[in-house]
Amino acid sequence: MKSKNDQASWLQGNGARCSAPGKFPPAPYHIVLLGPPGVGKGTQAERLCRHLNACHLSTGDVFRAAKCLSDNQLTPAIKAALGYMRRGDLVPDDTVIDMVVERVRCLNCQHGFVLDGFPRTLAQAEALEALLETINKPLDAVVNFDLPAEMVVERIAGRRICKACGASYHIKNQKPKAEGLCDSCGAALTQREDDREESVRVRLEAYESATRPLIDFYRSRNLLLNINAEGPPADVFDRLCFELSLAMTRKRRTVA
Ligand code: AP5
Repeated sequence: MKSKNDQASWLQGNGARCSAPGKFPPAPYHIVLLGPPGVGKGTQAERLCRHLNACHLSTGDVFRAAKCLSDNQLTPAIKAALGYMRRGDLVPDDTVIDMVVERVRCLNCQHGFVLDGFPRTLAQAEALEALLETINKPLDAVVNFDLPAEMVVERIAGRRICKACGASYHIKNQKPKAEGLCDSCGAALTQREDDREESVRVRLEAYESATRPLIDFYRSRNLLLNINAEGPPADVFDRLCFELSLAMTRKRRTVA
């Protein structure tokens, strides 16, 4: 099992290279995670990437990493994107697609990838499809996490993150060892700016109108796996691995 790489290529773009790529898996996976904000995509992506030796590619993480840059390092597009994100709105398609195109090396990486938070609109899904076609890396599966709305809100409301290293906790479900402090680096935990009530409402509306239609888009391409996201992260992960291995077995049989 590999330890997490530094994700420099993805987070920084601009030709940056990851410093600890580790061993390449014999069969790299190319996976997209779908689901409403707060359903647990990031939590499952971390586990899945460790399990598959793949790279976790989160568009939200790229924007959050950009917040740490000084004003003169930010392009006008990224500056505008941070404003959309703070309010809970989706960042315009052109900005997100340009950002992913700039990082196409990560989609082509021999580790494979788990995309988390991209695509989020039909235009993004079509752009991703075209991009993957040009590098001949078709998707293996699209995982859609399902959770009742009240549980989604509870997960978002209780989330706390470490600003220093990005680790994520929950005040009830995934408590840090010492209250308010990160287990990994000891820094103080805070609430994400877009986890405030007014932004959460906007994010959930954006999910319903722009992202939910992707479920049918990927179902029609025979890629969709529905996963019940209720219960502790370990139980959700077991379900995910089970469904994924069934899907990959089916796929291998079809190809043979
Ligand atoms: P992004 O960072 O992608 O946020 P999101 O999709 O809203 O998802 P979250 O990070 O809120 O939740 P998650 O599903 O990863 O849940 P998590 O694992 O943290 O995007 C942020 C913003 O960036 C967007 O709103 C938009 O503005 C912009 N953006 C990004 N990509 C874009 C794109 N492609 N196009 C346009 N705009 C874009 O879990 C949540 C909490 O629950 C945690 O506290 C966790 O500990 C807890 N938890 C997780 N699993 C469980 C479990 N099984 N049981 C109990 N608790 C759990």
